Amino acid sequence: MIKDEAPHILPAIIVVRSLTKSIATSTHRVDILKGIDIEVPRGQFVAIMGPSGSGKSTLLGLLAGLDDVSSGSIVLDGVEITGLKEDRLALVRGRKIGFVFQSYQLIPTLTAEENVMLPAELMGVGDLSRARDLLDRVGLADRREHYPVQLSGGEQQRVALARAFMVNAPILLADEPTGNLDSVNGQAVLQLLIQLNRREGTTLVMVTHDRELAAHADRRITLRDGLVVSDELANVEQPA
Ligand SMILES: Nc1ncnc2c1ncn2[C@@H]1O[C@H](COP(=O)(O)OP(=O)(O)O)[C@@H](O)[C@H]1O
Ligand SMILES: [Mg+2]
Repeated sequence: MIKDEAPHILPAIIVVRSLTKSIATSTHRVDILKGIDIEVPRGQFVAIMGPSGSGKSTLLGLLAGLDDVSSGSIVLDGVEITGLKEDRLALVRGRKIGFVFQSYQLIPTLTAEENVMLPAELMGVGDLSRARDLLDRVGLADRREHYPVQLSGGEQQRVALARAFMVNAPILLADEPTGNLDSVNGQAVLQLLIQLNRREGTTLVMVTHDRELAAHADRRITLRDGLVVSDELANVEQPA
């Protein structure tokens, strides 16, 4: 198959340079990220691995603009997000980023369909047929009117996936999206994530400590003590 775009000649969609994050407590300073450099080409599926406490969630939160960096820079789809004022940042976040959390984070008083619709509605791009299509794709066409409490953990995470893809953001960040699921449901959620990712051409950055799940990624970056200690590409066919 001929691709009309070679990802390596396009600017990376995520560029992280010399990124640090330190937190001052009342008694001492904790250096959580100590200088991270990462470039992610458009469309890549990256797994972020590493032991608990190595800084994975902190990195994802900074990429999502949910917290301030201590130093360094983050450019998302051509926009430098470090130092942006909150209102501008909220706009960039809404347009560029979808986020899937370990703990689903559905709104309990809204149905599955309403949960999927909400972020898009807030962005002014609510599209009920897209919401229904996404729920259909994650296998929940017959659960649209159900409330989160009426859904299993795997089903709730599938609703959260549909919601994350709703605004059609170019970057999807997922922090241990299968962490609360058994291995069967975890595999199913991962497969859906990959399918949606491929179909929508999304760039996917997923934190996981599950090697089997990470094996599906195009690239595996391992953090330890706030530093990248390995960065390896999966064996993929090289274009002729
Ligand atoms: N608000 C905070 N105050 C103090 N320490 C923190 C704070 N947030 C995270 N940390 C510490 O930073 C380190 C990295 O945390 P985190 O990014 O959550 O790691 P991971 O997701 O890899 O398990 C941990 O040692 C954690 O205790
Ligand atoms: Mg974490």
